[in-house]
Amino acid sequence: MLDELNQLRADALAQLSPIWDDAALEEWRVKFLGRKGALAAQMERLGTLPKEERASAGKLANETKTALEAAFTAKVGAMKQRALSESLESEPLDVTLPGRPIKRGRVHPATQVMREIYRIWGDMGFQIFRSREVESDEMNFQLLNIPMYHPARDGWSTFYIADTDQRVLLRTHTSPGQIRAMRALHPNPIRVILPGMCYRYEQITARSEIQFYQVEGLAVGHNITFADLKGTLTEFARRMFGENRQVRFRADHFPFTEPSMEMDVECIICDGKGCVVCKHSGWLEILGSGMVHPQVLRNGGYDPAEWSGFAFGLGPQRIAMLKHSIEDIRYFWGNDLRFLEQF
Ligand code: PHE
Repeated sequence: MLDELNQLRADALAQLSPIWDDAALEEWRVKFLGRKGALAAQMERLGTLPKEERASAGKLANETKTALEAAFTAKVGAMKQRALSESLESEPLDVTLPGRPIKRGRVHPATQVMREIYRIWGDMGFQIFRSREVESDEMNFQLLNIPMYHPARDGWSTFYIADTDQRVLLRTHTSPGQIRAMRALHPNPIRVILPGMCYRYEQITARSEIQFYQVEGLAVGHNITFADLKGTLTEFARRMFGENRQVRFRADHFPFTEPSMEMDVECIICDGKGCVVCKHSGWLEILGSGMVHPQVLRNGGYDPAEWSGFAFGLGPQRIAMLKHSIEDIRYFWGNDLRFLEQF
């Protein structure tokens, strides 16, 4: 049996050496090392040998097995190595070829405009104050002079989350942040902007979405006047839309500011000459504003006898639409890459 084992080893190694493909290698493995292979057959015979021969035959059988397994592993490695060098030779690397283009991510157009707005107000001394999106009825309405069941509520169609005594809702504007900022920063003077998402329960159309950004502004101090409001907003418009851009103010009404006004800028598409975007008026409305109502100051903890302030609310997506001639607001949250890749 010792001779047979030696013969088996010699045959196996001889047959292994010319093998260079996977199928033949597997065939070889089954033939010699498989459960029903040649070596297994020899191992089975061990039991039938006379005792004196069994020990030496067993030892040689084990050595043979180890040798064949090692040869097999070495062959697998050699085949991998050969495949690699073959592929390197047949497909030479050209390191001068241009690389594959990497897909570039972009900042969302609404975010771009938001950042520009932050920068401008930041330069003018306004800090960002983050306020919550889920609000109480009290903050969103009542403390802003909009009582329960008052017709003024019709201006803000509301998503209510819970209809309990403390009605919970998605803020319809960033103005409740005015109260939160005043209560947080009292008794200091305030110069903040409050950016964020707002929600309205409305029909979705090209001009209105159920969610949209607003940027609120709030200044509270001693002797802040209506002239400060006009001057500050005019400066913002110049920085945002260009040095020579004209603005105009129109009287308006909000329950939480008195007096209230809207600001228009000269149409940035036609420079005031009249076009479809400004509906041939030459002007675009970009924000609502006013002097903080004395009762709202009081609700925020500031005594209106000593303090005054102004507030404004602007729509960054509207500005983005004007700047880029985007004709449908639904593109903003539609996640269509063909739209987003343009910015
Ligand atoms: N909150 C108002 C709106 O949503 C805008 C506004 C803010 C007006 C601050 C005046 C002062 O329409």
